[in-house]
This record gives sequence, C-alpha cells and structure tokens, in this order.
Amino acid sequence: MKRRRKLKKKPVMILLLSIFLIIVLTIFAVKTIKELNYRKTLEYKIMTIGYSKDEYDLLERKTNKEFMENLLTKEYDKMYINILKETYYIPSKVNQYINYYDNHLNSKANEIVSMVNVGSDKKWYEDVKDTDTSKDLLMLNNKFNKLSKDYVPDDLVNVKNWYAYGNNPQLRQEAYDSFINMFNAAKEEDLTIIINSAYRPYSSQEKLYAQYVDKDGEEVADTYAARPGHSEHQTGLTVDVTTYGVQGEDFDKTDEFKWLQEHAHEYGFILRYPKDKENLTGYAYESWHYRYVGIEAATIIHNSNITFDEYYAYYIENA
Ligand code: DAL
Ligand code: ZN
Repeated sequence: MKRRRKLKKKPVMILLLSIFLIIVLTIFAVKTIKELNYRKTLEYKIMTIGYSKDEYDLLERKTNKEFMENLLTKEYDKMYINILKETYYIPSKVNQYINYYDNHLNSKANEIVSMVNVGSDKKWYEDVKDTDTSKDLLMLNNKFNKLSKDYVPDDLVNVKNWYAYGNNPQLRQEAYDSFINMFNAAKEEDLTIIINSAYRPYSSQEKLYAQYVDKDGEEVADTYAARPGHSEHQTGLTVDVTTYGVQGEDFDKTDEFKWLQEHAHEYGFILRYPKDKENLTGYAYESWHYRYVGIEAATIIHNSNITFDEYYAYYIENA
C-alpha cells in the first residue's frame, strides 16, 4: 500500500515543478523584454549620459524629441537644465538659448534667456521687423522693431503748457490722462515733473539722429539715440521729463526721480532704459525717459525688475 502511494506522488511533483519553472521563466522573459525595451527609450539614453529622472522629466516637459536626441550627442551639462528652470524660459526658443550658450560659455542662465528673448543674440538693427501696432498701448518699438515713416497715433492730444517746457508736446490720450494723475500725485509732495519731450514724428527723429551722428559719429550716437522709425517717442506713449533747474543727466539726483522710482508704475509708467540693462534695451541709462504701458504691465515690470523688452517677449509675444 505504502509503495503505491509513493508512485502516485511523483508525477504530481513533476507537474508542480514544471508549472513553477514555467512561471519563473515567463517572469524572467517578460522582465528581460521590458528592460530591453526600456533601454531603447529616450529616457534611458538621456539618463545614461548623467541626467537624473527629475531632469529628464523637465526636459520632456520643456523641450522636444529632436532637442533631446541632439542632447545625446553631447556630454552632460547642468547649464541646459538651469536654462529650462529660468522664469522667462520660452520653449520655442530652446535651440537659440543653446546656440547662445555655446558662443558665450561664461554667461549665466538668466542672462542667456533674457538676451535671446529680447533678440540681443543678434546685432542691433539686424533682422528688423515692423512694429506690431495692434498691440496698441503695449506696442514694442526698439532696435529690432520699427514704425513706418507715416505711422502717427490717431489719438494724440496737446499737452497743456502747465505740464511742459513750452514746445507744444503731444501724447496719446490715455498716456496723457495718466501723466496728469501722476503729476498731481507728485505735486502733493511738492515735487514737479515737467515734460521736456513727448511725441516725436518720424521726420523729427530723423533730424535729431542726424545731428547726433554729425556730433558724435554713428557708433556713439546709436548708444543714446534711436534711428528714425525706431524711437519710442514716435509711439506717442513716451515722455522725457525733468524738474526745475536740472539739466538732463542730473535728473537721477532729484527727489522727483526718487519719487518716480517708487510710484511711476502706479500710473502705468516705467523707466524704459534702466541702468546696466544696455545689453537688453540697446540704449545707455536714461533716468528721464518714461514709457506708458498701463498699470498692469508697469506693475509686473517694476516688481520683477525686468525691461519692457523682456516683458514683451514673455507676456505678449509668447502669450
Ligand atoms: N533717446 C531715445 C533712445 C530715443 O532717441 O528715442
Ligand atoms: Zn526719450
């Protein structure tokens, strides 16, 4: 009896063992296939160069397949990741950022993003576009964007002599209304903000620029004067200001200037050519030149300490 039972047990054992082996082999095969497939993915390849999983996820969210494939031909570089993490990073410009970085290896990530965003990876006046006047109060007129010879804003109003040194300046209606509010607010603190120059037609800028070139030569003139069509004064949204008894450059030593630093944005005005931003604006510091962009944009520009050129690239063009 005992022997017969033993004989019956053996085939069962063999069967169970075979099933177990099949299961183990299947699991192993599935795992191997999965691993081999994973090795074919971009994620795996990117990570073998040295990027972490988080960095890969960032690359996937903020760049494209072509960019990542191109990355495989290069060594790991933390700078690529730093660029993607920048506040004003614009995905469609990723190749331009990398190109700029390749040519300026000592630049910081925020500099790379800013320079490319405003177009300063090119030479001034290279690749000039027509200013998009449909952006109205937010139109950008600079060394890369130009107004036509016959562009004249259609809502220019005469500035009262009370607000200006008598050269009959004109401004667009909304900019003028806001200027008056700003003027009155400053007056309450015994400060006087006087308009020196406001709207300038193409022809005036043409004469002005020619005079500066005669005096200083083109290279120097270009650092402080706009070529015709490129001046913000042609938008009718800009004022050059001063106060009693002050000559041009000394305006930044006045209490009026200090007040404007704190309050201009509350009235929709911004200091258009700040100190140390020549690379981005194209012009030397001008403590007297204010541009009307409306309170919302002016507040963002003021609080984030960016130029209007950077604001435009990120919030208007990229929107
Ligand atoms: N001075 C400024 C840049 C202009 O000429 O418009
Ligand atoms: Zn000006």
